[in-house]
Amino acid sequence: MARTESYSGNTNLKWIVLGVSILISIGSIYYTDVLVDELKQRERQQVELFAKALEYTLNEQSNDNILFVTDEIIFKNNSIPTIWITKDGDYQHRNIDIKDDWPPARKKKVLEESLQEMRARYEPIQMTYRNENGEVENYGYVYYKNSFLLTQLIYYPFIQLSVIAVFAFISYLAFNYSKVAEQNQVWVGLAKETAHQLGTPLSSLMAWAEVLRDDPNLKNKEIVDELEKDIRKLTIVTERFSSIGSVPALKPENVVALVNNVVHYLRPRVSSKIKIEVFSLSENIQANVHAPLFEWVLENLCKNAVDAIGATGTIAIKILRGSESKVYIDVSDTGKGIARSKIPMVFKPGFTTKKRGWGLGLALAKRIIENYHKGRIFVKSSEENQGTTFRIALNTAPL
Ligand SMILES: Nc1ncnc2c1ncn2[C@@H]1O[C@H](COP(=O)(O)OP(=O)(O)OP(=O)(O)O)[C@@H](O)[C@H]1O
Ligand SMILES: [Mg+2]
Repeated sequence: MARTESYSGNTNLKWIVLGVSILISIGSIYYTDVLVDELKQRERQQVELFAKALEYTLNEQSNDNILFVTDEIIFKNNSIPTIWITKDGDYQHRNIDIKDDWPPARKKKVLEESLQEMRARYEPIQMTYRNENGEVENYGYVYYKNSFLLTQLIYYPFIQLSVIAVFAFISYLAFNYSKVAEQNQVWVGLAKETAHQLGTPLSSLMAWAEVLRDDPNLKNKEIVDELEKDIRKLTIVTERFSSIGSVPALKPENVVALVNNVVHYLRPRVSSKIKIEVFSLSENIQANVHAPLFEWVLENLCKNAVDAIGATGTIAIKILRGSESKVYIDVSDTGKGIARSKIPMVFKPGFTTKKRGWGLGLALAKRIIENYHKGRIFVKSSEENQGTTFRIALNTAPL
């Protein structure tokens, strides 16, 4: 079980990284939100002071005071966009991007748009105009919206997080790409090396078998027959390893015959309580395959089926012509099934629930079908304690 644990450890780490990133994001958005609120309050106070100052200048007769107020307060507001309407209905503004040399119509349009935006956002601040006797004469209103600084601060965390997310995504892709490239190298290198190493003893075994067969002193010729069978199997294994180490050429083959080959090979090696059945509507269904590798996939699926069944049960292999130039091979068993949550993991290298499993059978099958045959392999259905069906989809041979 150690392998399964290390496998799930890997996924746990992913969740931890994801969780921490989400926490950091929420934290940073929350913190900026607090800052934004504070700044909003300050801007409101600033505009209130500004309105007070305006009101003062409009009601004050003494010029000295007015000069101080205008210089120190009104012109100090150089960040918050503000529009106020005087008692005569004039529009005045500060910090709104309007150039002096614009035609009046354009100025008016920009002013009105800004005013609308301000109205939607904040309550205006009221100014009271009084006559010489101090009686209320009229009201004016100061409208404002967030300063550029505040607007930037509001959007800043989102921009920052998106930049980080894009960056993280690109690094993830790059990392994954290099991981896949590395895995490919390991698969290919190991397979080639194995084929290479098996080659030499295999050719000498063949030669020894020849020698034995010709030996007049050997009574029991059956030994040589059995030996040759094993040599043939070893040759196939070597061929498989050497084909996975290179880019295998696909040819039109009769899939029904290939399936029967595998069943023929497996039948004497599997308990007689496990039935293996082959169904197909035609004796000849052609698909574009590399025979040794395709047989390897079938063998892996059947071995898994045998393991899942345990004592008694049936393995059914159906070969069907699908639509859109596809051929389907469904391998069903009456075994223990796969838990729903485990289905997405079965093709991952290293995933196994068996004491002596390596979790490589299905990873290899997927690689062979998807990379080399441009087909698809997937769990078509699985019910716990009922059985499982794996489907291989291959491309039909070009006519
Ligand atoms: N037909 C099936 N029924 C139930 N579970 C299956 C079936 N086929 C695969 N599995 C599950 O998927 C896991 C991975 O299968 P895979 O063939 O990749 O590895 P393995 O059989 O455990 O080991 P290996 O094939 O490397 O010896 C299995 O351990 C098993 O839990
Ligand atoms: Mg297996």
